[in-house]
Amino acid sequence: MQPLDRRNFIASLGGAAAVGLMTHEARADALEDAMLAQTQGGARKAITEPPLTAAAAQAPYPTVAELAAQVPDLPRRRGTGAILFNAQGGKLPLLPKMPAKPTLVDFFNLRFDRTRNHCYQSASLALKNGVDEPVVLACLLHDTVQELMRSDHGYWGAQLYEPYVSERTAFAIKYHQALRFYPDEKAGYVYPDFYRRIFGVDYVPVAHVQADYEMVRKHKWYDAPRAVTVNDLYAFDANAKVSIDPFVDIIGRHFRQPKEGLGNDGSPSAHMWRTLINPDAPL
Ligand SMILES: [Fe+2]
Ligand SMILES: [Fe+2]
Repeated sequence: MQPLDRRNFIASLGGAAAVGLMTHEARADALEDAMLAQTQGGARKAITEPPLTAAAAQAPYPTVAELAAQVPDLPRRRGTGAILFNAQGGKLPLLPKMPAKPTLVDFFNLRFDRTRNHCYQSASLALKNGVDEPVVLACLLHDTVQELMRSDHGYWGAQLYEPYVSERTAFAIKYHQALRFYPDEKAGYVYPDFYRRIFGVDYVPVAHVQADYEMVRKHKWYDAPRAVTVNDLYAFDANAKVSIDPFVDIIGRHFRQPKEGLGNDGSPSAHMWRTLINPDAPL
């Protein structure tokens, strides 16, 4: 893992003084955006832990109420999909044209700009840890729906991929979201500090997440979403050579690519793919 590059990150936010003036919410958001935005060869540098100034590092985690009070000052809803706004606050770039019959690999290359690096690194770690291929595929896909919708992303993600993957792969994508709130040290998963910053230190998971956790922890496939959380990296290596290449064969074996192209196949989630192809459609 590369050493932390706090300086570049802080500079990208306008310097230490500017970071010191940022709200908890804005800081966590900037951190999250930088993590998601990091792409191979991208201009933005990797970071490996929260970029806090000395003063800010001693600041307590925000509470749920403090985070909620900041909502009226935000330029967008926190659940907004990454492709739908410019994280740097500037104008929107034109999106590259998609092929007429787009494949999953085309979406990784042309639409999953903000999520692919995180997903490549998570899937690479899963491969290294000997996770089975249908679950490596889940790791590869687990956060990509955040291009479209961040809130409840496990559920959105499962729905997007259900027509094309095995039931167990979709199960892993769906429930990784709930399992992220529940440590399982035996499996190698501890509650992430990052969640204390973005959800609030006193956050209690909502009812459907609690209920799903209770169901999943006794389920015969518990290991699948748990493996997604165990390999879910919030630490990035700027120089990691990650790409879709190691996963193309796994996609070929475990992803049912429709011959008409994703979005043209009339599946229950075809409209979600079409929105990713053209999020500029006004209605
Ligand atoms: Fe996730
Ligand atoms: Fe993730």
